[in-house]
Amino acid sequence: MVLMCLFFVDMVLIPGGVFLMGTDSPGIPQDGEGPQRRVHLDHFYMDAHEVSNRHFQSFINATGYITEAERFGDSFVFEGVLSEEVKSQISQAVAAAPWWLPVRGADWRHPEGPDSSITDSRLDHPVLHVSWQDAVAYCSWAHKRLPTEAEWEYACRGGLQERLYPWGNKLKPKGQNYANLWQGKFPTHNSEEDGYTKTSPVKSFPANGYGLYNMVGNAWEWTSDWWTVHHTTDERHNPAGPPSGTDRVKKGGSYMCHKSYCYRYRCAARSQNTPDSSASNLGFRCVSQEQP
Ligand SMILES: *[C@@H]1O[C@H](CO)[C@@H](O)[C@H](O)[C@H]1NC(C)=O
Repeated sequence: MVLMCLFFVDMVLIPGGVFLMGTDSPGIPQDGEGPQRRVHLDHFYMDAHEVSNRHFQSFINATGYITEAERFGDSFVFEGVLSEEVKSQISQAVAAAPWWLPVRGADWRHPEGPDSSITDSRLDHPVLHVSWQDAVAYCSWAHKRLPTEAEWEYACRGGLQERLYPWGNKLKPKGQNYANLWQGKFPTHNSEEDGYTKTSPVKSFPANGYGLYNMVGNAWEWTSDWWTVHHTTDERHNPAGPPSGTDRVKKGGSYMCHKSYCYRYRCAARSQNTPDSSASNLGFRCVSQEQP
């Protein structure tokens, strides 16, 4: 147990309470952001930041775990971060989102394909190209678990009520950037106003009221819930989503989100992926019921 403590990610206490989950003014109605509903949650502890490459490396070193992207041999990478050489070897894109390319050899150690790496300062960036299974494996190794969508959203709100973002309703209070998002014209021009074209270190930008960093922007985060767009308005205690499904819920948006096509860097916003999906903008953080 002494060894475990050496690399424990900082966790913060999220006090139990009642909150209004979802919104009656959805930014993206087809995502099932509404209706707004009262949810009671017990207290829990949450990783103060997204799981970094460094922490994921500890897990891999200790267990020899092989991620799904490594087993499949490829993963989805945003075209805008690929080298010309890697790009020239790919023909097939995703019809509905042509900026996503399946790249052979892309995985958590090679976020932009075989000619990229996570050395030096990138060790403190969020781990990417991890599937839902990979995230679950990491959390259980660390004696934690993935948050439910309700826990994630409650934590995102940082003690504020009915606000859009973890810090309030204004995207850039006093002109300051509070999240790693896309500025410029997506997908062709990133003006890098927030200082980053790709991910940022897991403790960048101001923390929210609970001391949590990058709840929106930077990397999408897996939750434990199956996806549905139908929600009861009945008051619920510790809801955990539907009993089955095909996709898992992800929250928070990423460095690629721009209002023009991905207005999902709001606490009530949500999206979905199959559990075996991995991509260059998708990571996670863990929670635990007990004090770390
Ligand atoms: C994992 O193992 C590699 C190779 O031995 C080492 O360089 C690296 O520092 C280790 N990472 C962690 C976080 O322990």
